[in-house]
Formats: sequence, C-alpha cells, structure tokens
Amino acid sequence: LNMNNTVPNLFDLDGSGDPNVPYDILTTTVLKLLRSMPINYVGNKKKLLENILSVLHDNNIKYDTVFDAFCGSSVVSSVFRSMGKKVVANDLLSFSSSGAVFYLMCDKIPLSRSAAIELTKDSGQAAPKFVQGRYEKFFTDDEARLLDVIRHNFLQSKMGRSGTFTGLGLDGSPKFVGGTGKDVSSPGDMLASAFFMHFVCNHVLHRCFSGGRYYSGQTLSRIDKRQQKTSKTIADDILASLDENHHPGSSMIAHIGSMPTGTVYNCDILKLLESGRVDADLAYFDPPYGGDSSDYASLYRVCEEYIRGPSIDDLDGTKDAFRRFRDKKAYQSNFESMLDLCRKFPSWLISFNESSFASIDDISAIIRRFRTKIDVRPVRYRYNYRKTGGGENKENEYLVLAR
Ligand SMILES: C[S@@+](CC[C@H](N)C(=O)[O-])C[C@H]1O[C@@H](n2cnc3c(N)ncnc32)[C@H](O)[C@@H]1O
Repeated sequence: LNMNNTVPNLFDLDGSGDPNVPYDILTTTVLKLLRSMPINYVGNKKKLLENILSVLHDNNIKYDTVFDAFCGSSVVSSVFRSMGKKVVANDLLSFSSSGAVFYLMCDKIPLSRSAAIELTKDSGQAAPKFVQGRYEKFFTDDEARLLDVIRHNFLQSKMGRSGTFTGLGLDGSPKFVGGTGKDVSSPGDMLASAFFMHFVCNHVLHRCFSGGRYYSGQTLSRIDKRQQKTSKTIADDILASLDENHHPGSSMIAHIGSMPTGTVYNCDILKLLESGRVDADLAYFDPPYGGDSSDYASLYRVCEEYIRGPSIDDLDGTKDAFRRFRDKKAYQSNFESMLDLCRKFPSWLISFNESSFASIDDISAIIRRFRTKIDVRPVRYRYNYRKTGGGENKENEYLVLAR
C-alpha cells in the first residue's frame, strides 16, 4: 500500500487535527466505517483514532509492529491492521479478546449462515440452565432459554466442544475457555468459535444496554428498565447479526481481511509482559483509567461468564488482575511495574483523561522516570454515554507519547 497517497482528514471532529495526515485509502475507508458502526464498548477510542494517528505522524514515529496492550473493542488494532502493521493485541476480558481474534486473525467471516442457524435452533431438548436462574434480572424467561439453548448447542458442536478460542495464553499456546479445554479444534473452528461467542454477546449488549446509569455496575439494563425503553428482544434478528451478509463486522473484515493477520493474547498485562513474549516497535496503552467505569469484570460480567462458564468471582488470578487498574490505591504501583517491563519497546503511546487515577501532571512525572522524550497532547471530545443535565459534558482526553 502506498502511504504517500495523502488524503485530507475528513474526520477532524474537534477542529484541532492535522488535515494532512497521510491515511491511505483503505485506512480512510476503515475510519469512516468505524464512525458508522455502533460501538458502545466502555472507554473505546473510536473518537480518538485520527488523533492517535496524528500524534504518531507528527512525531515521525516509524513502526511496523504495534502492541495494543488493552485492546477492548479492537477499534485501534483494526485501524493499525488496515495500515498493514503487524498487530499484537491483548485483553484480559475473554469477551474482548475473542473479538480481537475476529478483527485481527480472520480474513473473512469464519462461520456460514447455515452453521449459525443450526446453533440457534431449539430442538426442544432440555438445555442445562446457565442463564436461566442466574441472570433473571436482565432477561425474560424466553430470552434466558434462548441463550441457554445457544450456549448448549455451541458446546455440543464440533466447533465449540473445546470451548471458545480467546487468543493465546501466557505460555503462548491457544487458550480455550468454557468447554472441555482440550485443544481439539481445527484452526477454522477456533476462529469460528471466537466469532460466534463474541458476537452473540455483542448482540445481547446492543439489545440490553439502554444507556444511562449502570445497573449495579453492569452495562446491561435491568429487564423492566429495558422494557420501558424498547420492545426489542434478544431473539430479534440474532441470526441476522451473525449472518455473513448483515453482520456488523462483515464490512470491516471485507476491508482489512486481506491485510496481514495479527496475534491476540487473553492475559493479564503484567504477566504477559513478564513472559517476554511480546515485541513491538510501538506499544499503545489504554488501561482502565482508575476512576468510575474501571471495573471491566463487573461491567461485562454476564457476557464474560457466558463465555467462560464460572463466575468471575471464582477465578482467583483473573479477579485480582482485573483489580490492578481499578482501585486507585494499587493503581500507581501496577502502572509503574508495567512501564518498567516495557523498556524494550522504543515508543509508547498512552491514553488518559481527567478522571484518571492521578492528574495528568502526576502521570507525566511517572512516565518521565522511564523516558526522556515526552509529548503530552490534550484532545477534547464529548462522551456521549455520560450526559448530564447541564448539557454537554466535555472532558479532556490526553495522548502521551514517550520515547
Ligand atoms: C479503556 S479499555 C480499552 C479500550 C480500547 N482501547 C478500545 O478502543 O476499545 C481498558 C481495557 O483494559 C482491560 N483490562 C483491565 N485490566 C486488565 C489487565 N490487568 N490486563 C489486561 N487487560 C486489562 C479491560 O478489559 C478493558 O478492555
């Protein structure tokens, strides 16, 4: 791809961007596509993508490989893939990393419509109760039954028997969760399992998040609140959402599927860095900020448990790892340990905002202990999921480039 193929920045949302960033046509298309995609992942950087590319461009950062250490919705990783970069993505949440498997490792939708239809069919046989009885506050009886049927069919299928493939584990081998754990899947089945479980959950999240306050820390609305706002059920077009032709990720994969595939990990960031497995020219850090909405295990509890099986509270190591960037007290020492383990990456790009665990000055001071060349760029944009009575709630977001 020709990176000299300069096009104007059509997405200059806040008026402060560089209008001459050299996105090539494919990346421009992907940025445009992402703008039209309904991405409600908490803390996603959809609105910051152009700024991220500008900071790197303005500072003349040269990189072929990128490590997206907390990839979340994979929007940042997807843009880097569109640029032909070799991407390594990681997230501790299996719901997130299974999405990254789709966006970074697939070259097309890995499951046919007919196979998806099979998995949603209710044969009338008893499916083990997983959602039913456990999450009745969020779902109607019919919805819970449907989700149990789907989960059961998946785990019984050839593709799902080993569990959901969620990327690589700490030892560098494929990680499967929720199933027998035995690595018996074919490569095609592995990709299909990640795709299927991720997008069933994604569909549920889109149907059940009605905005506003979280219900006891979760992104799903309580059933009665949801029913006040929408008559849509989870069954509504669940098939369409998995159908190759109408799937929300299908345009994306049609565009970036021809670019080199990347690597995905489903690990605690500190443990992964300690393993020494990851190498990259550029590391992008977008950790939970340590303020409100930093508790990702709770925010996505239902989906995470649907994929993994056991309650998050029973996964000791994972539960503790989710705390690293949640509690303000422990935050700083975990952040420092992380940077200490990242010395080998030549460039760091770090996201923070004003509600982070510390002020941007204090955060910069910490980073300065590790790096001499630091560039702090404030970016203003509006959070649309945190509207307050007084109109727009603007918050400064910061991109810190450190070399
Ligand atoms: C701010 S979000 C990242 C958003 C992402 N950049 C995007 O654009 O969607 C932070 C992510 O860190 C993940 N996370 C939290 N603790 C972690 C840990 N100890 N190791 C790895 N990932 C972690 C969360 O699951 C969450 O997806």
